[in-house]
Amino acid sequence: MAQKIVAGNWKMNLTAVEAKELVKELESMEVPKDVDRIIFPSTLYVKPIQELNIPKLRVGVQNFSENEMGAFTGELAIEQLQSVKINLGLIGHSERRMILGETNEQLKNKVNTALKHSFKFIFCCGEPLDVREAGKEFDYVKQQLEESLFHLSSAQMRQRIIAYEPVWAIGTGKTATAEQAEEMHKAIRSWLTEKYNKVVAESVSILYGGSCKPSNAEELFSCSNVDGGLIGGASLKADDFMAIVNSFPK
Ligand code: PGA
Repeated sequence: MAQKIVAGNWKMNLTAVEAKELVKELESMEVPKDVDRIIFPSTLYVKPIQELNIPKLRVGVQNFSENEMGAFTGELAIEQLQSVKINLGLIGHSERRMILGETNEQLKNKVNTALKHSFKFIFCCGEPLDVREAGKEFDYVKQQLEESLFHLSSAQMRQRIIAYEPVWAIGTGKTATAEQAEEMHKAIRSWLTEKYNKVVAESVSILYGGSCKPSNAEELFSCSNVDGGLIGGASLKADDFMAIVNSFPK
């Protein structure tokens, strides 16, 4: 069975004081034993939050460079992150793909650099609105996975984390229905079974992201192929985020 995970992507939000307050609230709230709780704050805050050693709160970065250390102004190398004990990051969030032009090829390089350093990651995929309207969402997401992630060996793919985030549902208030989410998650699981095997496919956590909130998390998490969520807006409020963390079927 895949690990249940709820991760909060804070994006470029919160001042240091606000981040501290949010973390304090998260610290006081209990997390179900079988759920992993992760947050991705601004890189500036990752280290100080990590140093608080809050039980069941893993912390990672929203982005890192595909390059090794060197002349890349403004970038962060995995070796630098690991030198301060940060060992987890997002790869390929749609805002980086769409706004900053990250390509499948570049993301494959990030995956490879992460593998080389045993750096853990959540790999994000998802189709934009025009692709869904054209009925091409399955081809599109499959291509993203094939071009950036499916070159991993079976051993490397085991227990990885994939986040399916339809771009049209991110920050728009427009959630994919539970049926739409389950349909894509099921397809991702079947591609993993075809490419690898059933054991590997069932060990991969597939998270849903895109306007996931306390009011719809329970329905989404009750789908058999949805192993949790990657939460944007609703992760900025401790009560909402923790309500989502507690939304798995009992
Ligand atoms: P949202 O963002 O929950 O605000 O839609 C999700 C994400 O971008 O990861």
